[in-house]
Amino acid sequence: MKNGANGKKKMHLLSFVQHGVINHAQLMWAHPRDKIGYDYARPPFWQEMGRILERGKFDAIFLADVLAPYDVYKDSYEDTVRYAVQCPVHDPVALVPVIGCATEKLGIGITISTTFDTPYGMVRRLSTLDHLTEGRLGWNVVTSYSQNEFKAMGLKEMVPHEERYERADEFIEVCNRLWDSWENDAIIADAETGIYADPTKVHRVEHNGKYYRCNSPSFVRFPAAAPSHLAGRSKRARARLCGQARGSGFLNSTDRQSHALLRRRLARPSGRSRSPPRRHQDHFRITGGGRRKS
Ligand SMILES: Cc1cc2nc3c(=O)[nH]c(=O)nc-3n(C[C@H](O)[C@H](O)[C@H](O)COP(=O)(O)O)c2cc1C
Repeated sequence: MKNGANGKKKMHLLSFVQHGVINHAQLMWAHPRDKIGYDYARPPFWQEMGRILERGKFDAIFLADVLAPYDVYKDSYEDTVRYAVQCPVHDPVALVPVIGCATEKLGIGITISTTFDTPYGMVRRLSTLDHLTEGRLGWNVVTSYSQNEFKAMGLKEMVPHEERYERADEFIEVCNRLWDSWENDAIIADAETGIYADPTKVHRVEHNGKYYRCNSPSFVRFPAAAPSHLAGRSKRARARLCGQARGSGFLNSTDRQSHALLRRRLARPSGRSRSPPRRHQDHFRITGGGRRKS
């Protein structure tokens, strides 16, 4: 909470849901008052939810996601399927325009893992969605934490924890460079001359890293904002990653060293950016554990 313009305490509200038959409360689908008259897989349910949240002054709706049915219990997915334990879960990305078109101010946060994607593809998808919602998109950056997701995606072994975050670190670095590849005034749109954009203001990103390669400018010009936020546990790698995030960040951590690392990261100016600074300490919230809150 923080003080608003009138000096009163101001609360931020975030709705935590999932694009599936339940959110996180098991057996909710069976409750007699659950989704009366609505089908979770169709637009009216999400549009109505968006409108209710906006009326209720929520800052944002946040869509959690996993990529495959859990199969830890009894080494099987049977009970997951039988009792709809976060199963089925539909793709959260598709809901962004659906909710966006029914609302005007509500932020829309989606969860996408960095582990099975490319930075170039991610930037194109997120930028497109951010344009469509006029800058209301948020990205919950996760690295995928369960074995079943890796098996589903065709990997024999789960990528080890440290490596996942090292990959994610590089992934976000490339994303940020792609988001900077169009200068703010690159688009001219002069119908007289037929010149739409100035190619000298659209820059190739040449990245030849440990995990990712890219040799192209972004295919979508820089959107209104390129926000990312983190929701995670007490890991230093996460603080490193969070320090690269733009727009807003959450570090859910009880580890003071992670907090200190994140503060140092945030204090550092992001020198290379061609666009006005979008990253600022004020936009970050560190939740849990540490005494000082920012
Ligand atoms: C509030 C909150 C929401 C989260 N949502 C997701 C999610 O939607 N999908 C996901 O794969 N992981 C999610 N996570 C898990 C984190 O990405 C992370 O894997 C987990 O907190 C364990 O931390 P570690 O990966 O640093 O060990 C969430 C964590 C928190 C605290």
